[in-house]
This record gives sequence, C-alpha cells and structure tokens, in this order.
Amino acid sequence: MSRYYVTTPIYYVNDVPHLGTSYTTIAADAFRRYRQLRGDVTRMLTGTDEHGLKLEREARARGTEPAAFVDAMSARFRAAWQELEIEPDDFIRTTEGRHQAQAAAFWERIKALNPDDIYLGHYEGWYCVGCEELKTEKELEQPGNICPLHKTQVERVKEPSYFFRLSRFEQPLLEHYRKHPGFIQPETRRNEVTSFVEGGLRDLSISRTSFNWGIPVPGDPKHVMYVWFDALTNYWTALQDGDEHKKFWSEATEIVHLVGKDILRFHAVYWPAFLMSANLALPTTIFAHGFLTYGGQKMSKSLRNAVDPLAIARELGAAIQGDKAGAEVVRYQLLRAVSFGQDGDFDLAAMVERYNADLGKNIGNLLARTLGLCVKLTDGKVPAAPVDPEFFRDAAAGSPVWEAELAWKRFEPHRALAETLALSTAANVYVDRTAPWAEAKAGNTARVGTILRTLLGVLERISVMIWPVLPSKSMEMRRQLGLGPIEPKVGVDAWPFATAEPTPGRVLAPGSSLFPTIDEDRARALLEKLTPRVDSGPPLAPPTTPSVSVAPPSSGPATSASPGASSATAGMSIAYETFAAVDLRVGLVVACERVLKKDKLLKLAVDVGEPQPRTIVAGLALSFEPEALVGRRVVVVANLAPREFGKGLVSHGMLLAAGPSEKLILATVDGDAAPGTKLK
Ligand code: MSP
Repeated sequence: MSRYYVTTPIYYVNDVPHLGTSYTTIAADAFRRYRQLRGDVTRMLTGTDEHGLKLEREARARGTEPAAFVDAMSARFRAAWQELEIEPDDFIRTTEGRHQAQAAAFWERIKALNPDDIYLGHYEGWYCVGCEELKTEKELEQPGNICPLHKTQVERVKEPSYFFRLSRFEQPLLEHYRKHPGFIQPETRRNEVTSFVEGGLRDLSISRTSFNWGIPVPGDPKHVMYVWFDALTNYWTALQDGDEHKKFWSEATEIVHLVGKDILRFHAVYWPAFLMSANLALPTTIFAHGFLTYGGQKMSKSLRNAVDPLAIARELGAAIQGDKAGAEVVRYQLLRAVSFGQDGDFDLAAMVERYNADLGKNIGNLLARTLGLCVKLTDGKVPAAPVDPEFFRDAAAGSPVWEAELAWKRFEPHRALAETLALSTAANVYVDRTAPWAEAKAGNTARVGTILRTLLGVLERISVMIWPVLPSKSMEMRRQLGLGPIEPKVGVDAWPFATAEPTPGRVLAPGSSLFPTIDEDRARALLEKLTPRVDSGPPLAPPTTPSVSVAPPSSGPATSASPGASSATAGMSIAYETFAAVDLRVGLVVACERVLKKDKLLKLAVDVGEPQPRTIVAGLALSFEPEALVGRRVVVVANLAPREFGKGLVSHGMLLAAGPSEKLILATVDGDAAPGTKLK
C-alpha cells in the first residue's frame, strides 16, 4: 500500500477557471481516483495563487481591494471544481494564515540550515508581470523588450532584493535528474530542463519592495516574498501538522506535481533547489502536460477564445439529461482525446462525435443490449452458468485490463481509456459472434447463461475502469447491474484483474439509456450555442503585413482625430452596425516609454480588462512625457488589426485623442470605470 500525494498548480485568480486550468485539475482527480481504486492512501491538493503584482493591479484596476477581489475569485475556482466532479482533499489559498505562517517558516528553515543560501542584494533588470518573472534581455523579443509569451513590454525594476543562491544547486540538481530518470516527465521535458541547468544557473531574486501584496519576509517586512517562492511552498505548507508532513512528504511513496509545460522550470529547478536547501525530501515526479488549443491557438481570455467548461457541461447535461453527465463528457473528452504530455486541440464537434461513438454506441449499447437479453432470457437475473474462458483467452479481450492499469501508472489516461473501450468493443463483437438469441431459440439454455454471465462480468469490469473519469456514470451503470457504488477502501486493490464472476441470481435493474446519443440536429444546436465567438481582437502572433484599411491617419499612428478629421467618411452617415462593430473600451495605462529613434512615438502598456496589458504604440510623444500617462484612463479602439511599427514593435490597438500632434488632448472617461468597460 502506497501513500500517494498528487497536486495541481495553484491558479492565479486574475482569470476565471477555463478549459486549460480545468484540464490539469481533472487529470489530477482522475489519477487520484485510480490510486484510490488500487487501495492506496491518497491525497489531492489544488488551490489558488493570490499574491503578486499581477493580482494587486488587477484588483485595483477593478476598483476593489485585493483581499476582497481574491476572495471572490478563489470561490469561483472552488465551485467550478465541484461542478466538474473534482474532489480535492484540500484547497489551499496563499492568502490563508496557515499558508503564510508556514511559508515564513520555510524561509526561516533555509536561513537556519543554510544561512548563506539567502542574502540581501540589489536587483536591476526587466520584469514581466504576466509571467511574474524577471527576464534577461536575451529572453525578450527585441527591439522593445517584449515578453515572447505575453507579447507585452516588460517593466524596468530596480530595488533591493533578497536572493536565493540557486547557482550552488547546479550540480546537485543535475545529479538528481541523472539518478532519478522519472523525476521530470515526459522525457523530452527532462532533456530541456537538463540543458537549461547545464547552461548555468544564476541566483534568484526572491523578494520585492515596490509593492506589498505578498507575504512579509521574516525579519524584514519592507520586503514581500517573490510570488513564486510563496506559491511553490504551497505543496508543503498545505500539510499542516507533523503527522501529515510525515505521511505525505517525508515518508510518502509518491509525490506527483502535475504542471503545464510553461511552468515546468519553476517546479523542476527552483522548487527542488529550495527543498534541498531546506533539507526536505524532493517530489518523486514533476509531469508537464501540453497546452490545449482552440482552433490551433492557445486558449486565453485575451484571445477571447477561452472555452468555458462549465457552459459546455451544463448544455451537454441538458442535452443528455443527467445531473453530472455533461461534466463527465468534458472529463472524458479532455483525457481521452489529448495525449497527456502533448499539446492538443479542443474541438467541440469532435467531442460530440466521440461521446456518441465511444460512450453511446459502444459502452452504453453493450449495457443496454446485455440487460435487454437478460430480461428476455434469464428472468432479469444473473444466470448461474460458468463464465466463458474462451472470451478471456482471446488477447483482445483479456489484456485491456492489464494495459489500462499500466497506462494509468504511466500518466497515459488517453491510453487507459482507449483500452477500456477496446474491452467494450471485444464484448460487443462477442455478443454478435455468439448470438445468444439464436442459442435460446435452439434451446441451449446453459450456453445462453454462459454468454450472458460473461458479458455481465465484462460490464462489471468496465464500471470499475471508467470510475476515475466517469464516477457518476460508473455508479449508474453499477446500479443497473445490481451492484453498489464503488467505495474504495485503503488496502483493498479493486482493479478488476481477476475474471469477474457475477453472483448468480443477483437481480438486474435495467434503466434508461446510460449514454443517450446526441442526434445531428441536437448536435448542431449545441455547437451553435457553445462555439466561442472569437472576435477580431489581436491574434497572438502579429501579422507580417499590417492591414492597410485600418492604418491610422498619417499624421501620427494610433491616435485618431487630428483637427477636422478629414477621412473618407467625414460628413457621411454610417449604419449603426458599422459603429457598433468598433470595440471601444476604457483602458488604464500601466507603463509607458519612448520609442527609440522615433521622436513622435510612445509605447504604452494598457490594461483593457484582459489578463495582460496590451502594447499600444501611439503618436503622443510630442505632447506627453511618458511618466505623465501612467495611471491615466484612456479610450482604446480594441479591435483594430495589429499594426507593425518596425521590427518587433507591434501596436495592438489605438488610443483616441484630439488636436495637433504637439498639443494633443487625450479622450478619457469620467470616474473610475474599470479597464475593459465598453463604451457605447
Ligand atoms: N500561479 C501559477 C502556478 C503556481 S504553482 C506553484 C500559474 N497559474 S496559472 O493560472 O497561470 O496557470 C496554471 C496552470 O494552468 C499552468 O500549469 C498552465 O500551464 C495551465 N494552463 C493555462 N492555460 C492552459 C491551456 N490552454 N492548456 C493547458 N494548460 C493551461 O502559472
């Protein structure tokens, strides 16, 4: 019996839960359930990451205090997981007292054990608020110091800072990776991390002084802990007392951190180094999964293509009439359609198709036809004939149970589910081949009993094998088979290795279709309703040639309305729809600087209510000092096609202003409208 501790990243609460964040959490829940089936002592942890500059700015931009903002947003994560049938044992928030106290204790532990590992220094460099990470110029797109992930300009930071002596851990980390080949998975990711560490590690800045939304550094409260130092410790701080630490950390059999590939470095380099310094055990595995894309692009709020898993679950649930049915289809599709570890595209039509084929026509059909035959031929009870050894000798029918078990262990839920399906397919083929109705006609009652009892045994196995992903459907399936729900017990291995021999005489309870298929009309209506309306906001990658039709007036880019604006449309009336198509929003300028060698241009980072501020290049430099614009509310045209102003300098919107270029007046709004508020 093992002690198994599985975690998800703790999510930033500047965004609502979306399909991408649901993905890891559903996977963790499924892995944990699989381990429960095996009789292990398990613990699953998830939670929310609530400190840092990104959160503080987001809250203030919405006119709320950070504490109230994070409370409300964290609650949405908790509720979303519940709706998706995710049952963590603990949900940690970094603003909770229990975390803050333990994170401080972790810092002090390092200081006590290895005093030289944390030292006070001075930091000067570039910070990406989106990544919450300091960046070297090499890591940025030039010119303009653009974060390649967020496509926004990084900010200059200059402040005293505590450093963690990461450089000391280069060799110990490499040695650990060498000795524990399963530490970073999949293998390609391990190679990436190894090369990164071999390239040399620089000491890591682990505190900030320019804002205070964080955990105070013990003994020096002018500093708050760097948000990643604070966040990474959550896996350890959530274990509250000595007993839990012992059970799930120092003496755990397996500690598995599931993370997205974008945050692997934090988990596979920084976190183990912190743990080594604190003289604590290291996790067993850090598994980095890929990105879910939609229409080939990473899902994000700023791309407006984020798919809402709850909306899908609710609509699907209504279509197939089941309380948890919709959530389970989402769980199934995510884990079955995408190879865990690879990137995968989420396709709504494919989800409906797969549901119909795998669940409706395969497993659902097997259950319905077997129970139908039992009602007709065996009095609605499990017959008392021996099971058919031939079925289990057949490799196609015998091995899926073993293969699926292996796949779960190897972090391959897609393959585990494919094997489960293979077992169901083999059973459907078996019914066709053995034709129990014909045997009944010929009076071969014993043979009928053998076939049906064999099939009931297969269904019983399937009801166990789907449980990690489809817990409610498993329960319903078992109810129809006359069985109680799955209730895993510590120390009892419930994986159906042995040939199942259902108890003769047990009364079956056929009910309505387990997975009613979704017909074409219904599918069309569903897709119509659920497809995210991707508007014409900026794509992640700037187009190579700017669109001529949206080029701003030649007097200065990205500000409109020079006096008497004499565009082709001046004086002409336009349809209301034409006006309504312009996405005008309130923006908050969060950073601003001159564009070198272009005396009229300023480059601004403007918060327009998206997770990351947009880069907007505007011809304002003759009228404004960059610093004077920071903190101002402006009016932004948010759905102009991006425009390039030289290599790597792309504007993702336009500000409205009036007047000659050396005396511009900015269009602005009254009061404290939240960034992103639409103007109409
Ligand atoms: N707060 C940090 C994690 C700290 S863990 C100590 C963070 N939060 S996040 O909310 O931005 O992202 C959390 C996780 O969601 C990451 O693992 C990220 O890879 C994952 N995903 C976000 N969008 C995703 C997709 N579109 N597809 C798959 N996973 C995605 O980073």
